[in-house]
Amino acid sequence: MRRGSSTRAQLADTLTCMSAEQWAEVDAYLAEKLVDEDHALQAARESSGETLFPGIDVTPNMGAFLGMLVQITGAKRILEIGTLAGYSAIWMARAAGPDAHVVTCELEQANADVAQENIQRADLADRVQLILGAAADSMHALISQGAEPFDLVFIDADKKSNPDYLDAAVRLSRPGTVIVIDNTVRGGEVVDASSHDPDIIGTRRLIDMISANSRLTATALQTVGSKGWDGFTLVRVT
Ligand code: DHB
Ligand code: MG
Repeated sequence: MRRGSSTRAQLADTLTCMSAEQWAEVDAYLAEKLVDEDHALQAARESSGETLFPGIDVTPNMGAFLGMLVQITGAKRILEIGTLAGYSAIWMARAAGPDAHVVTCELEQANADVAQENIQRADLADRVQLILGAAADSMHALISQGAEPFDLVFIDADKKSNPDYLDAAVRLSRPGTVIVIDNTVRGGEVVDASSHDPDIIGTRRLIDMISANSRLTATALQTVGSKGWDGFTLVRVT
């Protein structure tokens, strides 16, 4: 590959195009072999096409990963930012068991309608509470109400607001709370300090905030799969 003549963004595009099909094929193979999706999960995933943002819900492998993270940590109180069709909420609520309380925040009424139907189909209405509105406002309302801390927070909404979401998530945490932030690599664009994309600016600010906060330990993993080259950041509140 002629690296010298490529900008970083061009290189990212080239690598993405070269391998996207293979990444998707391997993702599908691993999901097929390892991930059990019943009718409710399958219907929820397929209904993402009825939301305002088709195709950006978590993948089956990521859904199963979130479920395992819930089980490994024993999380019962779970906060999700960005419901979309409710697919990840279903994974986490099931993994947390009958005494779980999942609060999921969604801005768009149209997405919330799709999600509520999926949550009901999965018979999880008693453990999943959907709050409609701007997630930062909903989180601040929870803070004002003195809500009990959450065990696990999954942030997967508009990326430009990630700094606000992290700040509120930390205030809704206790020592040991785990915070997962989706899509923090974005095809490699996260390293572009001169980016004018609000999503990249938001993600870079998020990483800076984590880096500067001595109460947070973190790592981030890059992923490839059916959604291309991306990754997530994993934070633990100490
Ligand atoms: C986008 C958002 C997501 O949450 C995701 O997983 C992938 C893409 C987006 O806004 O483009
Ligand atoms: Mg996402």
